[in-house]
Amino acid sequence: MKVTKAVIPAAGLGTRVLPATKSLPKEMLTIVDKPAIQYIVEEAVNSGITDILIITNRGKGIIEDHFDRSPELEERLLASGKKDVYDQVVSISRLANIYFVRQKETKGLGHAVNCARSFVGNEPFAVLYGDDVIIGDDPACGQLIRAYEKYGKAVLGIKSVPEDSISKYSSLKVENLEGNIYSCTDMIEKPQKKEDVLSLYSILGRCVLTPDIFDILDNTKPGAGGEIQLTDAMKTLARTVGMTGVDFTGKRYDMGDKLGILEATVEIALKNPLLGESFKAYLKKLVKSL
Ligand code: UTP
Repeated sequence: MKVTKAVIPAAGLGTRVLPATKSLPKEMLTIVDKPAIQYIVEEAVNSGITDILIITNRGKGIIEDHFDRSPELEERLLASGKKDVYDQVVSISRLANIYFVRQKETKGLGHAVNCARSFVGNEPFAVLYGDDVIIGDDPACGQLIRAYEKYGKAVLGIKSVPEDSISKYSSLKVENLEGNIYSCTDMIEKPQKKEDVLSLYSILGRCVLTPDIFDILDNTKPGAGGEIQLTDAMKTLARTVGMTGVDFTGKRYDMGDKLGILEATVEIALKNPLLGESFKAYLKKLVKSL
């Protein structure tokens, strides 16, 4: 079955990025000239996704406004002859069919994904974490979808993380199948003891899930941090039917982390066709003075 639906959980509290995220959702933090979540929606669309459900909560209404039309602004842009900017602004509302649902309590990523049950129905679907921006020539979500089509199992976006930080991530039991593709048969969220670490491969930012995840999530008890962890539900899938891991190409930026936001801003600005050259000249001058 073709994967055409995606879910973007964006209802977290963003406590690592306070005070910026006190009233501004971290998914709306700007990288150069677009909010982070627009990069993520564009990646989904470039991967063949046509329908996107964004999970929000109180105070995240500006995410809905960003993907809506803005008649007053559009009129003003047209009247002042700014056709290019007008086209850019209008195109945001035409990227995909975008729907919203509220996660009424912030009970974790697993709980957020479970809010997508009626949107997803009986189809496989992609999940793009709302604070993970991935930039690359081949969209990461599309790489996972291709692996789903080839192997027929739920797919995880995976990357190797440094040994001293594995306790902050998930740890996966993997075996190489071919190239950058692995089979995954077990996992643990935030392993605190060295002997619990299954490998340095961790789930980062993207997955393609099958609808059987919802019944599993219904029966998943709160885990690490008292939250309903998506990893705990995926562990059941991995242990029973098995999952596929794709060590995707592309650079991931963690928009839930202050250093991650700075890295994204600098590196994406350097690639910007209009600003890149002048920003590079500015950086070179700055670096000399450090
Ligand atoms: P994180 O755990 O990184 O988000 O979840 P958080 O809870 O906002 O982080 P901190 O630790 O407080 O800074 C990854 C993704 O899952 C969403 C987040 O918005 C983020 O995009 N999420 C998390 C939800 O939608 N609901 C939740 O209950 C938790």
